[in-house]
Amino acid sequence: MTTDEMIVRLKATQVERRFRHTMGVAAEAVRLAPKFGVDGDKAYIAGLLHDCAKNFSEEQVEEYCRKYGVVLDPYCKTEKALVHGFLGATVARVDYGVDDPEILNAIYYHTTGRPGMTPLEKLIYIADMTEPGREIEQSEQIRELVEEDIDEALIYAIGCSIKHVIKKGNLIHPDSIFARNHLIENRRRGS
Ligand SMILES: [Fe+2]
Ligand SMILES: [Fe+2]
Repeated sequence: MTTDEMIVRLKATQVERRFRHTMGVAAEAVRLAPKFGVDGDKAYIAGLLHDCAKNFSEEQVEEYCRKYGVVLDPYCKTEKALVHGFLGATVARVDYGVDDPEILNAIYYHTTGRPGMTPLEKLIYIADMTEPGREIEQSEQIRELVEEDIDEALIYAIGCSIKHVIKKGNLIHPDSIFARNHLIENRRRGS
């Protein structure tokens, strides 16, 4: 499937606000890609598809899991917001024809992060929070940090997500904690 065909399908399946966010993340990912040595085409596709399973109904989630053997993380049982990342990688593969594991992992980990994230995974995590239409309180700070150092931006961004989850009284996915710890340990080692 071409990226133009992906856009047609996304526009048809996403509400207006989500579609604008999708296009914003794709553009932001492409803008940041050369800065961090990431392939622009992969950044564009991962940006376009990162939320391709967002707002799926319970029935759709069940259908995809059954049909494609997706085993969702146990945290997804209570933390529904996590489902679309993990499931999105499968949807990108089966509905959008993406077979590049780097792109699929960037979609898979875009809500939780994980220790040892690849540059593309980091880029999508950040672009999701810094695309121009996104107005979370901390966007500006993340935008400034990413101009200097993507890992610093990521430490801050993951921290913001964790605080948000705590504020809502929800479970924190352990991968987010491990991702943040890993980045901080690397910083301390100077690598
Ligand atoms: Fe998302
Ligand atoms: Fe998003």
